[in-house]
Amino acid sequence: MMELADLFRRRRPPYVREASERDIAHLAGIHAAAFARGWDHQEFERMLAQKSVRAHVVCEGAGGAPQGFVLSHVVAPEAEILSIAIAGPARGRGLGRALLEHHLGRLAGEGVTTSFLEVDEANAAAIRLYEGLGYAVVSRRRGYYGDSGHDALLLRRDF
Ligand SMILES: CC(C)(COP(=O)(O)OP(=O)(O)OC[C@H]1O[C@@H](n2cnc3c(N)ncnc32)[C@H](O)[C@@H]1OP(=O)(O)O)[C@@H](O)C(=O)NCCC(=O)NCCS
Repeated sequence: MMELADLFRRRRPPYVREASERDIAHLAGIHAAAFARGWDHQEFERMLAQKSVRAHVVCEGAGGAPQGFVLSHVVAPEAEILSIAIAGPARGRGLGRALLEHHLGRLAGEGVTTSFLEVDEANAAAIRLYEGLGYAVVSRRRGYYGDSGHDALLLRRDF
């Protein structure tokens, strides 16, 4: 018989939807925890208001709070991922993959044929996520990240 603790441990499936203004506090919190230079509430407000920006959030189950987000800047047929992050405790559960798959599917639906992004060469989790979804390295900016001296990789995915 299933123990009560097992019930609590069961995860609800990833649910991806468009981001809205109501999500901004969550997005700013997740971004600030994930990156050295966090985007504040106003910065997200400005991003979401731009007609060329597509933003999705991923939740655990339809009614859950956002656990991650992705934003792309679209000038069809090209798009660039501006930022993607999953809240620390929710990483490694397939949310990033579900989120990005859905996001790219929506971009494809509006005529995007190529997605670009930039990633720190030392960011193994992100590179694994991107390569698993068909991105490939097209160029490298040596020493781009001043603090660490790491290179930036430019990745491209053709739909
Ligand atoms: C990168 C990030 C979005 C991935 O999200 P996630 O929900 O943890 O990823 P998933 O659980 O969907 O896993 C996706 C793939 O990455 C792999 N992966 C996840 N964490 C990993 C880690 N720490 N090291 C190596 N691979 C990892 C998974 O095994 C999976 O690969 P698979 O599909 O071949 O099995 C998340 O780690 C994050 O928010 N990082 C901080 C912000 C960041 O670096 N953003 C990217 C900037 S370019």
